Amino acid sequence: MRFMRAVIVGSGSEIPPNAVTNQMLARIMDTSDEWIRERSGVETRYYVDLGTATSDLGVAAARRALAEGATAPEDVDLVVFATMTPDYYFPGAGPLLQAKLGLRNVPCFDIRQQCVGFLYGLQLVDAHVRAGLARTVLLVGAEVHSGFMPYSAANWDYLYGRSDVPPTPAEHAWNSRFRHLTVLFGDAGAAVVLQAQEDGSRGIVDSVLGTDGADYDKLYVPGTGFKHRPYTDPEQFARGDHIPVMDGRYVFKLAATRMVEVAQQVLARNGLRIDDVALVLMHQANRRINEHCQKALGVPDDKVVHNIHKYGNTTAATIPLLWDECARRGRIRPGDLVLLVAFGAGMSWGATLVRA
Ligand code: COA
Repeated sequence: MRFMRAVIVGSGSEIPPNAVTNQMLARIMDTSDEWIRERSGVETRYYVDLGTATSDLGVAAARRALAEGATAPEDVDLVVFATMTPDYYFPGAGPLLQAKLGLRNVPCFDIRQQCVGFLYGLQLVDAHVRAGLARTVLLVGAEVHSGFMPYSAANWDYLYGRSDVPPTPAEHAWNSRFRHLTVLFGDAGAAVVLQAQEDGSRGIVDSVLGTDGADYDKLYVPGTGFKHRPYTDPEQFARGDHIPVMDGRYVFKLAATRMVEVAQQVLARNGLRIDDVALVLMHQANRRINEHCQKALGVPDDKVVHNIHKYGNTTAATIPLLWDECARRGRIRPGDLVLLVAFGAGMSWGATLVRA
């Protein structure tokens, strides 16, 4: 029997044009470069121009990934789009990407596993390829988090230095209410092309994924959902229920524990040790979480790559963005064993081994 594996043959990413430093954020809320840098590691994040949506970032990243993988769009027979910030409530971003790229009328999944979306996507792709249901797959992770930012249009202008009108005291207080969350996130898109290849020496090796919905309310959006009738209304907006709620300390501790556990599980299940891994790419939510995980797993510095300082947390895009940067810099060589690890809202977590 032929044994098929999903091999990453190309990657691409799209960073939006508007760089926002920590000092710029301090123009519209009570925060500081020092606090953000020390607590999270973020120095800059990028936001889209008004009107650019998640599918646009995904399309730009996917075009680069297809070119890099020498793959014709007409060969794609499956799309998996991981995002928590789709252009519309429905349909998802996958169908929009299919149309914009002019792909055949292939199945397009949208998946909503937030910061672990890319790893859940890899497992979905792996299962399709192993089952013989897909041969050429586009897996995209993209987010436009700037839509979650609670700032008024005038405050956006002041943030970018396009106006001299600072926030009113009420606006400043409103912006500061969400500061523990908003400063962490940025917009970005990244994609990989996977091809079914016979052999078994390259490709997705294995994934361990997990979820514990009991903690859903530690990181979630309390409003604009169908628990409400109508699902959105001015009262929800006035309360700020359209902005995510996050218990930062709780999430921090859980992420630090689960990421270590799941990485150890996937290694043990495959008879591997951390020394067998050439590179560890961790979800970029907080540099301190990742430093803890690195230490607990015993990974040397030269096997870990961070880019949170440049982009912040871009949720489903963080891991493919890291992959793309490393591939371009020659940090991922054919045959390297790469360990991917993530944790996010759900709460969900995962670790995936990929032989490049
Ligand atoms: N600027 C300045 N001060 C801020 C601030 C900001 N942006 N955000 C919060 N603070 C203040 C708090 O109000 C608090 O003040 P107080 O002590 O006077 O009450 C103080 O800083 C400490 O807040 P705390 O929330 O305890 O800080 P922390 O060390 O836990 O860091 C996070 C906060 C959010 C950076 C951290 O908890 C974290 O990264 N958690 C994980 C988040 C995550 O990974 N989310 C995505 C999951 S995929």
